[in-house]
Amino acid sequence: MDLELSGRTVLITGASGGIGRAIAAAFAAEGARVALHARRQAAALADWVARQTWRDRALVVQADVRAPAELDAAVDEVLERWHRLDACIVNAGVWVAEPVALVRLPEERVRTVVETNLLGAIWSARAFLRALARTGPRPDGGGAALVFIGSTAGRFGERGHVEYAASKAALRGVVLTLKNEIVEIDPRGRVNLVEPGWTVTEMTQGVLGDEAVVKRAASTMPLRRFASAHDIAAATLVLVSEVTARHVSGEFLTVAGGMEGRILWVADEIDAAALRGASGAPPASGRAPDEERAADHGPGSSCA
Ligand SMILES: NC(=O)c1ccc[n+]([C@@H]2O[C@H](COP(=O)([O-])OP(=O)(O)OC[C@H]3O[C@@H](n4cnc5c(N)ncnc54)[C@H](OP(=O)(O)O)[C@@H]3O)[C@@H](O)[C@H]2O)c1
Repeated sequence: MDLELSGRTVLITGASGGIGRAIAAAFAAEGARVALHARRQAAALADWVARQTWRDRALVVQADVRAPAELDAAVDEVLERWHRLDACIVNAGVWVAEPVALVRLPEERVRTVVETNLLGAIWSARAFLRALARTGPRPDGGGAALVFIGSTAGRFGERGHVEYAASKAALRGVVLTLKNEIVEIDPRGRVNLVEPGWTVTEMTQGVLGDEAVVKRAASTMPLRRFASAHDIAAATLVLVSEVTARHVSGEFLTVAGGMEGRILWVADEIDAAALRGASGAPPASGRAPDEERAADHGPGSSCA
């Protein structure tokens, strides 16, 4: 199927990461021009791009998503080269692997994660929408598309990662708001959210090396496997393409193998006799919150 993305210009934030690279390759394979954003790994990203057959349709830009002026400058570079931007995948993000209950969570970690995942997403979207406002809609009537990468943590929560879950859950409100704002700039513009669960990237390998974590994470997933970065990229293609999603806006697409939620207690942590006694008193967990298994995470990389 021709997704009619050839010649479209797409900005992908966090393109130096596992999911970002897969998104970049997927759009490039469809003939799109790809503006690839990175922060610390910009040089490595440029090296990777130089080895791709589509390198002449790619541009690497650098910005800290927590610095709106840097993002605006990066978007200016894209406009200088291609004169417009048709789509943006807001993908850059951070996830700190160690689960820490809120009562012990360092303030700095909360600020960094929220500033990167939520404020960074807002600044990225603003830079994109400002560019769209400057150029106007496509003359051929094709609508602009903005896709955010959230997480199942924003849908189910994530014990030990309140700052991450909050930053990703907030993207739902961002999407529901911006779908009503983008049409003031481009009447056919659309805004959607992809929510990955566990996704195998280089950064997830450490956590996924733990068999108990894997079993627990997969236990509410009918498909009993984790996503590849390509699975997430495919979802973004579908949402950006007007062939497949022309009338889809303000939607949340979970890509998590049918995940139902989180396993909170394993069998030996539930006292069936006490429950049948209906005392109403909650059984003691017998474990500290920080001992909760890492497998509750929907996400999986250092940035999940
Ligand atoms: N992997 C999973 O299991 C999973 C699950 C659910 C959701 N997600 C979400 O998917 C997205 C991509 O994750 P991933 O697995 O590909 O992670 P990753 O490999 O760690 O990549 C993270 C990307 O975000 C960029 N980034 C981080 N902080 C930044 C900052 N302050 N300014 C600019 N860029 C910044 C990184 O750029 P540099 O390295 O160049 O600095 C990198 O390109 C994230 O939003 C993540 O929350 C992932």
